Amino acid sequence: MQDIVFATNNAHKLEEIRRIVGDDFRILSLKEIGCEEDIPETADTLEGNALMKARYVKEHYGYDCFADDTGLMVDALDGAPGVYSARYAGPGHDSAANMALLLKNLEGRADRRARFVTVIALILNGKELTFEGRVEGEILTEAHGSAGFGYDPVFRPLESETSFAEMSADDKNRISHRGRATAKLMNYLTLQ
Ligand code: IMP
Repeated sequence: MQDIVFATNNAHKLEEIRRIVGDDFRILSLKEIGCEEDIPETADTLEGNALMKARYVKEHYGYDCFADDTGLMVDALDGAPGVYSARYAGPGHDSAANMALLLKNLEGRADRRARFVTVIALILNGKELTFEGRVEGEILTEAHGSAGFGYDPVFRPLESETSFAEMSADDKNRISHRGRATAKLMNYLTLQ
């Protein structure tokens, strides 16, 4: 069994990946390798940030690793909030404030097209690879539903009648940006 770090402490993300990977890889969290510090994420692209996190773990802790970064790109806002999605309304990472600012900035706009994009960077056996997943959709004019997190209540994927926040976790994962990027990563890992 090969050790590989997932550069996160999000228990939900860890559990999901462990279930899919099975016995070939042991997936370790940041906490499990003793990494308690905040890893810098100062790049201006999702790919740059994902690579920065994976390289940090490899350089400082010696483990092969993968890391993810996600953004919501809105066409009428020239791609904002994009790589800054977590702190769109300020450094507090406040989802309600982020959504309120997004709805305000789109007030009266007919073009509501948007997409979620996730990039996963993997460093494994001396190679660096990235996997991208995206889901196209639109920003609703008000919040709908209470499941999920982040911008879920105001994002409706094109292939759905409802917002992400009105879906079960399984239904969301099947079509989501992160679900699609993770599927590509898993496909690669299970072929190793
Ligand atoms: P992260 O890179 O996974 O931390 O995501 C960055 C930010 O994008 C989060 O703080 C959320 O605001 C937003 N985000 C990421 N994934 C989702 C999602 O699946 N639904 C809604 N918002 C998301």
